[in-house]
Amino acid sequence: MITIVVGTNRKDSVSQHVAIQYSEILKEQGQDSTILNLSELPLDYIYSALYENVGKNEHFNQIRELMNSSKKFVFIIPEYNGSFPGVLKAFIDGLDRSKSLTGKKGALVGISAGDQGAGIALSHFTDILHYCGTHVLALRLRIPTIGNYMTDNRISDGKYLSKIHKQSSQLIAF
Ligand SMILES: Cc1cc2nc3c(=O)[nH]c(=O)nc-3n(C[C@H](O)[C@H](O)[C@H](O)COP(=O)(O)O)c2cc1C
Repeated sequence: MITIVVGTNRKDSVSQHVAIQYSEILKEQGQDSTILNLSELPLDYIYSALYENVGKNEHFNQIRELMNSSKKFVFIIPEYNGSFPGVLKAFIDGLDRSKSLTGKKGALVGISAGDQGAGIALSHFTDILHYCGTHVLALRLRIPTIGNYMTDNRISDGKYLSKIHKQSSQLIAF
């Protein structure tokens, strides 16, 4: 089971559209996946599910369970202020890393409005996943100026579509 994590909780994010398309591509390749959009986090997540409150938020417990039961992940990561969104780190901090992340495998897709394609964000996030024991697929995908490559909320650019196909097939075999 592959879980695709939308790495922001921003409503109507571009990241969620990329996640939907990624899921469809996995399906074409014979692989089921589930999308976990961080916009589904409980509204009071940082007050009710972290630190001394770990395990007390039933809604978040279900999300933790989804992470625990997944063997592989795709993280869709938009570039926010030169790195990945803070909510993604808060999400990681609410997991039981030995059950959610250690020994698992992950692929990273970075997207940005500017010309970095979230490259630095992917490096920052790779360090965190490696610390948590998640093996990161070497082929990390960066899509800069993503608006130029999307039509009607879908990536329409052949070069980036073929990069996604290549990464997703590598993740299946990883
Ligand atoms: C809080 C915030 C910070 C952002 N910072 C950057 C940035 O540093 N560099 C950049 O190229 N784009 C930046 N963006 C634009 C996003 O990277 C861009 O919209 C992305 O392609 C999709 O983000 P989304 O999934 O939230 O829609 C920022 C957007 C937000 C909301």
